[in-house]
Amino acid sequence: MIGVPGTADRLFGALRATNISVILISQASSEHSICFAVPARHASRVEQVVRQAFSMELQQGQIQSVDVQGDCSIIAVVGDGMAGLPGVAAKFFGTLGNAGISVRAIAQGSSERNISAVIDKRDVTRALRAAHSGFYLSAKTISLGLIGPGNVGATLLDQIGEQADRLRRDFGLDLRIRAIATSTRMYLAERAIDLSQWRELMKDGLQPLDWAVFARHVKADHLPQAAILDCSASQDVANRYIDWIRSGIHVVTPNKKAHSGSLAAYDELLAECRRYHTHFLYETTVGAALPVIGTLRDLNQTGDEILSIEGILSGTLAYLFNVFDGKQPFSAIVCEAREKGYTEPDPRDDLSGMDFARKLIILGREMGMRLEMKDVRVESLVPPGLDTLTVESFLERLPEFDAAMLARWQAARKDGKVLRYVGRLNRQEGATVRLEALAADHPFAHMNLTDNIVRYESQRYSANPLVVQGPGAGPEVTAAGVFADLLRLASYLGPSR
Ligand SMILES: NC(=O)c1ccc[n+]([C@@H]2O[C@H](COP(=O)([O-])OP(=O)(O)OC[C@H]3O[C@@H](n4cnc5c(N)ncnc54)[C@H](OP(=O)(O)O)[C@@H]3O)[C@@H](O)[C@H]2O)c1
Repeated sequence: MIGVPGTADRLFGALRATNISVILISQASSEHSICFAVPARHASRVEQVVRQAFSMELQQGQIQSVDVQGDCSIIAVVGDGMAGLPGVAAKFFGTLGNAGISVRAIAQGSSERNISAVIDKRDVTRALRAAHSGFYLSAKTISLGLIGPGNVGATLLDQIGEQADRLRRDFGLDLRIRAIATSTRMYLAERAIDLSQWRELMKDGLQPLDWAVFARHVKADHLPQAAILDCSASQDVANRYIDWIRSGIHVVTPNKKAHSGSLAAYDELLAECRRYHTHFLYETTVGAALPVIGTLRDLNQTGDEILSIEGILSGTLAYLFNVFDGKQPFSAIVCEAREKGYTEPDPRDDLSGMDFARKLIILGREMGMRLEMKDVRVESLVPPGLDTLTVESFLERLPEFDAAMLARWQAARKDGKVLRYVGRLNRQEGATVRLEALAADHPFAHMNLTDNIVRYESQRYSANPLVVQGPGAGPEVTAAGVFADLLRLASYLGPSR
């Protein structure tokens, strides 16, 4: 067809004779093909006519094929205001791209008052919603599934419920929680769960958990964007992220398991996020809502070189050593902290240092270090022989080790120091998590009871390191951090009002 005059004239001449109107025409300047759309009911008749009109060229191979693609729809943005306004096409196609919709053909007249795109019929509602929200004609809708309505998850549901009207009104953002899952059951709502009564709904309307049904429900065909909020601490849930990412579901989570597990799985997950243009946000995995990972990224991305990171990243261990003053036995402080809900139900989860080590791995990997759990030197505070007992037996026998802990405290005290459980990370020495004796005027020696603190030393912040400090745990702040990540996701998915 290239450079052969009259092809279009013959094609449309033949169609004129059939009295079938062509509703869209698109031809690229390469002249390799002409694409046009007719109502589906005329498709086979039109195919016949075109084959007839070009039968000789088809036989001689000058025209390769006449293809009919069914199940298509045309979506068009139309308006006088578009003429001469740069960026309308970019916004239109960007919005469709963000919603994971492929465009099969495009047409725009030189009057610039109409841009039409041919898409798969099954994408049409999603495309329409995406285009409407992209041009602020309706709110930007995100279909959401929440996993783990425990401490953090329940608080997050309440926070989203309280803010939903304001977000819709002021920012044109429609956050729809359409699914909630626990470890065994789930609740699905067609439109959106009424968050003022999600607890009652969860009691009555639960069905057995089925991950495939859950994910399909969240990634609804008619809604342009979908995200899963994983508020569990489950490895099994984390293992499912990759499938969700591949199906275009974004993931937001305070769960550390996915990015502190094997390096191979971590690399694959991030590669798939890039490949499928899907977002994975996890600021709250370290220091809850404190901007620990964001700060590290800002330093990295602006070309600063991070020399070391050190800090106290366990609110529980911070509390234990802030309170331990040599008067009360260490084991009694552990029991008291457990009763106040500061420790995990099994305090060994905190005392083992593994949770802290996971946070260092996340930070190390953000710095580009290829860290695995085996590379982190962890000093466990679970006394030898007590790691396999039941929680009750463990707590009963913990006093046997009070004398050893007191001796460490006294030795530190003799040198004018205090005990703190600290993590350190640098490229030369790798990662360590251990109990250290620090000078009494060290910044880590004077913190609020359960605060976290992170100190970044970099090329720019070398003489005076950058410090992030504040509450590093608690459902309210952690849920607010996940919420902030969710709003960040919304802004990545296109402009808000
Ligand atoms: N609490 C904090 O202050 C804090 C701070 C920073 C980060 N985080 C992180 O936030 C996450 C949640 O912490 P949390 O304190 O809210 O925990 P939580 O109260 O124990 O709640 C965990 C929730 O996850 C669900 N769950 C557990 N295993 C599951 C599975 N295999 N599949 C689906 N759901 C599952 C549980 O459902 P069931 O009831 O059915 O077991 C429960 O609803 C954790 O990753 C934690 O490390 C918490």
